[in-house]
Amino acid sequence: MQALGVSAGTKWLKHYSSDQSILTVGDGDFSFSLSLATAFGSGKNIVATSLDTYEELNSNYSDAASNVRELERLGATVLHGVDAKEMNVHADLWPRLFDRIVFNFPHAGFNGREDKVDVIKSHQELVRGFFAAARNMLFRRGEIHVTHKTKHPYSNWGIKQLASESSLTLLEEAAFQIQDYPGYNQKRGSSWRCDQDFAIGDCSTFIFLKG
Ligand SMILES: C[S@@+](CC[C@H](N)C(=O)[O-])C[C@H]1O[C@@H](n2cnc3c(N)ncnc32)[C@H](O)[C@@H]1O
Repeated sequence: MQALGVSAGTKWLKHYSSDQSILTVGDGDFSFSLSLATAFGSGKNIVATSLDTYEELNSNYSDAASNVRELERLGATVLHGVDAKEMNVHADLWPRLFDRIVFNFPHAGFNGREDKVDVIKSHQELVRGFFAAARNMLFRRGEIHVTHKTKHPYSNWGIKQLASESSLTLLEEAAFQIQDYPGYNQKRGSSWRCDQDFAIGDCSTFIFLKG
């Protein structure tokens, strides 16, 4: 894959274009990645990943198998068992670089009330580890995108502070609207309600650059 260069026939969906090499992380049932690939008419520049193994994915999400099949038909690379905190050394990712690395609604799992200090700490560990790994996987001027709820208790995660610990600078905080991504179904992503959606409420896509 090449670093970003805009060509004739480039297709866009919100922040993303068919010319960008895009890595999606922790993508639930893969409906976000498929939304991008469908809009571009191609997934050839997309690497879509889940923490779940393929078997876990299929027992957790009713649409995962068909989403993965369609992504692969469109030419995307689909990888399973990819831990966001160690993805820079994953055998199928190292030493690849990307223009955009996207983690929508990172969440370490439901382990008690979301306002409990230790629960927030577990989410922070995930996001901290993701930033540290992702910063090593960017082309020059590449961007890391995290979509996250902005109200209490989610605002207590301190996304910008966690990014700054990995020397990432906020370029933009853009309002997130799920309607911008046709076919995307945001998933709870753990517990017996894994395949259910959740109320999005107020949230933003935080866009970070190195430096
Ligand atoms: C709230 S769900 C959001 C899922 C998906 N991004 C979406 O928007 O529908 C949180 C996701 O984070 C993933 N996750 C949790 N820990 C992870 C890790 N260490 N590495 C990669 N993904 C992780 C879960 O598997 C789950 O898919």
